[in-house]
Amino acid sequence: MSNYAPEPQIIVLDAGGQYCHLIARKVRELGVYAEVRPSDAPAAELAPRRGVIISGGPMSVYAEGSPTVDPALFDAGVPVLGICYGLQLMAYLLGGRVQRGEKGEYGLAFLDLAKTAPLFEGVALHGRDQVWMSHRDTALAAPPGFEVLGTTETCAIAAMADIRRKLYAVQFHPEVAHTCRGRQILENFVFGVCGCQRDWNPKNRIPLVISRIHDAVGDRNVFFFVSGGVDSTVAFTLCLRALGPERVRGRYVDTGLMREGETDFVRDTFDRLAPGAVLVESAEAQFLGALEGVREPEQKRRIIGEEFVRVQERIIESSHFADGDWILGQGTIYPDTIESGGTKNAALIKTHHNRVEGVQRLIEAGRIVEPLSSFYKDEVREIGEELGLPAELLNRHPFPGPGLAIRCLCAEADEPVRRVAEGWLLPVHSVGVQGDERSYRPVLALGEAPPPDGSLHERATELINRIDGINRVVGLVESRAPLDSLRVWSSALTPERLERLRRADAVVRRLSHDSGFDRTVWQFPVILIPLGTVGQPDSVALRPVDSVDGMTARSVPMEAGLQAAMARALLEIDGVCAVFYDLTHKPPGTIEWE
Ligand code: XMP
Repeated sequence: MSNYAPEPQIIVLDAGGQYCHLIARKVRELGVYAEVRPSDAPAAELAPRRGVIISGGPMSVYAEGSPTVDPALFDAGVPVLGICYGLQLMAYLLGGRVQRGEKGEYGLAFLDLAKTAPLFEGVALHGRDQVWMSHRDTALAAPPGFEVLGTTETCAIAAMADIRRKLYAVQFHPEVAHTCRGRQILENFVFGVCGCQRDWNPKNRIPLVISRIHDAVGDRNVFFFVSGGVDSTVAFTLCLRALGPERVRGRYVDTGLMREGETDFVRDTFDRLAPGAVLVESAEAQFLGALEGVREPEQKRRIIGEEFVRVQERIIESSHFADGDWILGQGTIYPDTIESGGTKNAALIKTHHNRVEGVQRLIEAGRIVEPLSSFYKDEVREIGEELGLPAELLNRHPFPGPGLAIRCLCAEADEPVRRVAEGWLLPVHSVGVQGDERSYRPVLALGEAPPPDGSLHERATELINRIDGINRVVGLVESRAPLDSLRVWSSALTPERLERLRRADAVVRRLSHDSGFDRTVWQFPVILIPLGTVGQPDSVALRPVDSVDGMTARSVPMEAGLQAAMARALLEIDGVCAVFYDLTHKPPGTIEWE
């Protein structure tokens, strides 16, 4: 018997940014079904739920067009928890006072809880519990009927409530790991204040997902473009379960921009799942031909996107997948289905998706099935595990669609490295994200390898804040030649350089896997930079990061022995001159360099 809940108990109202998903995921981790809705969802729709959480967001309540909620929500009898922007919005709408802030408060603070309340059950009074703050504006006066429950050194209203009406608000973020009692506070809200029952376990929803696949597909068949990634593989497997091996087909496009062994891995994986159901489309020559001589990152992405469109159109046409008896399957997951307030207007940092016209037509005609569209990434893994997919597949790090092309940096002209006060300026450009805007700037190299205690990472953060005109800092792990003697070489995407990167990536991946380091990071890009000597024209940058969803990330330090082993193995690759370690968090650097 499945015990899936047909309706969510908790609704998280999206006030912009990514916090809403973080909150909904945390509530689901407590075993309670939560979903995200637009912030202005009508109160009548929210009233029957057990509780509502208003998320944080980057705007000011005073800004034109900033997210708001239906004010009737506060009289609907449903418990509400406002977080960060949610607190400010409650103060603003209910008759308190919000003050615009210029500098804001970012990072750790200590919560001084003056009064207890059901939300803070188990949290010590007048304690020094660490909380994480990220806000510009602050509430200066609580609305009538509310009392201030907690403060921090710089924040007069860190927590407030109208306990009788079950309206609560906190300025800090209970959903992030740095808030040490955050989980307890969410638990108190969900169970103590709202009275939710545990009803959520993604594995138990498999029967429901399968019946929905039947409803969507009817007596037609499903085809997928598979990537070898977790989402498309799990979605494919669910369709196999629902419809049987005769009715599910897949294509994998080999762009020639894949990692070493990738195409074989994908072939083996699908041959085991459903022999003959997934075919490999070899398109290396087409992609590499179109990319010849191209150097600019966004142009690379555009070309790769266009070639993908061509191949997919060709496959759809030649295999008659556009006919009425086929529909398209996709591995879309929950966060990708919602156009959130924060991402709707976000400045374009990098182009990620291209919609194939043929695919677009299928979507418009409703001929699409997305079995994972209500799940988060970690839930997709749990479902995959339940379906018996191997851990090796489920624990794969994400890999970008344009593949190695965006990890093989190019340069327009020869240029020497320049000595500056703090280190060496490498005249290659990499993409960053600063103040929500894209930046494209040179890299600063420090002449030493990062120690595992993270101290050089800290220095890097400080340098980026201080020095104008850079967005990334690397440490030198090892080099065959002094940094002063290196040059950036005019270079494009060539088969030779791609092969060099492929080997470097395979070396790092092997050592990272064998040492167990790969389990401590979320993703580990390996970048080839056209920096070196005449004989060894390229260098390698290691970029291990920890992240939740790729939106923000922290550069992860590595033990000295493993760094040295990687550098040794990398310097044995023909044409590799030096090995660097990327010390930059995101922001200000993006995870990938392009
Ligand atoms: P950035 O570099 O923007 O990366 O910090 C965030 C996450 O997105 C992946 N990424 C891409 N994925 N197409 C993709 O499918 C792309 O063009 C692309 N660019 C970056 C990146 O690997 C990281 O996981």
